[in-house]
Amino acid sequence: MASKTNLCLSGTGVTKVFGFGRNRTLAVDHVDFAFHEGEIISIVGESGSGKTTLAKMLLGLISTTEGEIFFQGQKRDISSGKKKKEYWKNIQAIFQDPFSAYNTFHKIDAVLLDCIKLRGGDRLPKEEKVKLMTEACSFVNLKFAELTNKYPFELSGGQMQRLMIARIFLLKPKILIADEPTSMIDACSRATILDYLMKLRDETGMTLIFITHDIGLAYYVSDTVYIMEHGKFVESGTADAVILRPQEPYTRRLISDVPKIYEEWDLSTV
Ligand SMILES: Nc1ncnc2c1ncn2[C@@H]1O[C@H](COP(=O)(O)OP(=O)(O)OP(=O)(O)O)[C@@H](O)[C@H]1O
Ligand SMILES: [Mg+2]
Repeated sequence: MASKTNLCLSGTGVTKVFGFGRNRTLAVDHVDFAFHEGEIISIVGESGSGKTTLAKMLLGLISTTEGEIFFQGQKRDISSGKKKKEYWKNIQAIFQDPFSAYNTFHKIDAVLLDCIKLRGGDRLPKEEKVKLMTEACSFVNLKFAELTNKYPFELSGGQMQRLMIARIFLLKPKILIADEPTSMIDACSRATILDYLMKLRDETGMTLIFITHDIGLAYYVSDTVYIMEHGKFVESGTADAVILRPQEPYTRRLISDVPKIYEEWDLSTV
């Protein structure tokens, strides 16, 4: 159920323009949104509709051209490096391409140690850190002892995705953005990843924002759905309202691409 509790992340008129003149692209066009604590949101749209650009603005990785973003109802301030770091304790992402997410020259323990450091655990005794990393790995069915001396590129795609979730387990952000978390992997791992994300959500109460082409996935996992077309939110509401009773032709078209939308999803075949 959508928990209409406290506002977690919201925005008004959020806009991103890339380039100038003939190269000008209006990637995100005055979008308004209000995401609540513990809510599961999907942002659905075709390729190029502006989803990743919006995610990057939410994360503070790129600037907004116009508009305001609010964190817990307060105007977000990420004007200094220090403030950005503070903000990133609250909001994290899992991106489309897991290979780009890591510094490939850092071994896996360094990747995980960084998370502990970001959470202020730098001074913990070594055994305590190893315990935390072991716990995070076993949460996603990875064996820390077997990974310690490896580099991220030595992992399989599925292991890499699970390592990303282990990072999130350590970071415990208030908001997680998952930008096509499942596109790189096979159907079976996809269901597993979804399960881990949901389990993590249940344990931490974090707000989960899925970014996807897959309106079927959106219906299956989310409380609230935002439909994005050419940089605009053309329709939003509860998953049932948007997907069972779509008002916009664009939404209807996305739904017509998915044959099984009305059937109960069977995770073993997702
Ligand atoms: N750094 C950039 N410079 C110029 N244009 C960009 C940049 N990043 C994105 N764009 C443009 O902005 C628009 C939105 O791109 P975006 O990556 O946000 O789409 P998307 O919805 O995430 O697509 P996909 O589903 O394929 O990932 C596209 O037209 C894209 O070409
Ligand atoms: Mg994208």
